Amino acid sequence: MLQIQENVSLKNFNTFGVDAKARYFVEINRNDHLVELFMDPQWKQMPHLVLGGGSNMLLLKDYEGLVIRINIRGIEHRISHNDVFVEAGGGEVWNDLVNFCVARGYAGMENLSLIPGSVGASPIQNIGAYGVELKDVFQSCNAFELATGTFKTFTKADCKFGYRESIFKSELQGEYIIVSVKFHLSLVPNFNLKYGAIEQELQNRGITEPTLKDVSQVVSHIRVSKLPDPSTIGNAGSFFKNPIISAELFAQVHAKFPEVVNYPGGDGRVKLAAGWLIEQCGWKGKVVGHTGTWKNQALVLVNHGGATGEEVYSFSSQIIDSVYTKFGVLLQREVNIIS
Ligand code: EPU
Repeated sequence: MLQIQENVSLKNFNTFGVDAKARYFVEINRNDHLVELFMDPQWKQMPHLVLGGGSNMLLLKDYEGLVIRINIRGIEHRISHNDVFVEAGGGEVWNDLVNFCVARGYAGMENLSLIPGSVGASPIQNIGAYGVELKDVFQSCNAFELATGTFKTFTKADCKFGYRESIFKSELQGEYIIVSVKFHLSLVPNFNLKYGAIEQELQNRGITEPTLKDVSQVVSHIRVSKLPDPSTIGNAGSFFKNPIISAELFAQVHAKFPEVVNYPGGDGRVKLAAGWLIEQCGWKGKVVGHTGTWKNQALVLVNHGGATGEEVYSFSSQIIDSVYTKFGVLLQREVNIIS
C-alpha cells in the first residue's frame, strides 16, 4: 500500500539542509509502486519532484506538488571471466555501492568514492571525480516512463552522456524515473591515478603498488580534506560547472590572467576551473548571511545553518555576476534549482 504523507519537511532529504516542505510526499521502495502511483489520475496529473539522495538540488520554496522519494534497494552481482556486472537499485546510496564493489575487488568505481547521492541519480548528471565519470562504468539503466507507466532500458549510447550531462537532464527531463542501474566493472584494476593529488597522497603514504582499497581511501581522504561533509555543513558539492569556453575567449582571459587554471575542453575549446575564477573574485571562504563558499573549495556553496534556498540562489547570482565582470566568463549552475 502506498502511503502518501502531507506537509512533510524536506530538510533531511536535501543535503543543502534547506527547510522547505512538500505538500505531498511518498516513498517508493518497489517498482510496482510507481506503476500503482501513476495509474491514479490524481497523482499522475500533479506536478512532481523525484528525489534520490537530494544531493544535487536547491529548493527555492515549499514544493506544492508530490515529492517522490526513490528508496528502491538491492545489489546483485555476476562475474564472467574478468568482467563483473553489478546491478543496483536506484535508492541505494552511491558510496555504499562503491564500498560494496571495492571490498570485493570489483574495479572501476574507486575514484568515485564518497560522492554523495543515490545510484538512481548518478547517470542523470554523469557524476564524476578525479578523472573518472560514471559513463566509464555504466552499462545500462532501467527507468519508469511516467507517461506510459512502463519500464524502459537505456544503453550507454541512449543516455548521451557528456560533462555533467545526460539525456535525462536534457531531452527527456522529467519524463523518466531511474529505478536501477547496471555497471560493468572488472576484476583487473585499470587505475586512473593521473590526478595530481592522488599521486601525491599515495606517495605520502609510501604506496607504490596501490590496491583498490588504497585508491578508494586516498580519494576519500582528498574529498574530506577539500569538501564539506553534508551531514554537518549543508551543501550540494560543486554549485557551478567548470565552464568550457571558446579558444577566442580563452585567449582574451589568458592575456590578462596568464595563471588561469585550464584544461583541454574538447573540439579546440578550453575548460576553466570555476573554483579558481570564483576565488580570484575574492569569494573563497566568504560568509554572507547564512550562506557562503567553502573555505577549501570556492566552487562549493554552503548553508551555515538556517539558509533559505532563495538566499543561496541570490548569493550564487552575485558570484555569477562578479565572475562575468572580471573574466567575461558566464558560470552555469550545476545543481538543479527547484522552484
Ligand atoms: N581551485 C582554486 N580555488 C578553489 C577551488 C579550486 O584555485 O577554491 C583550483 C585548484 O587549485 C585546481 C583547480 O581549481 O587547480 C581544480 O580544482 P579541484 O581539483 O578541486 O576540482 P574542481 O574542478 O573544482 C571538479 C568537480 C568535482 C570533483 C573534482 C575532482 C565539477 C563541477 N566539479 O571540481 O565534483 O570532485 O573536480 O575531480 O566538475 C561535484 O560535481 O559536485 C564535485 C565535487
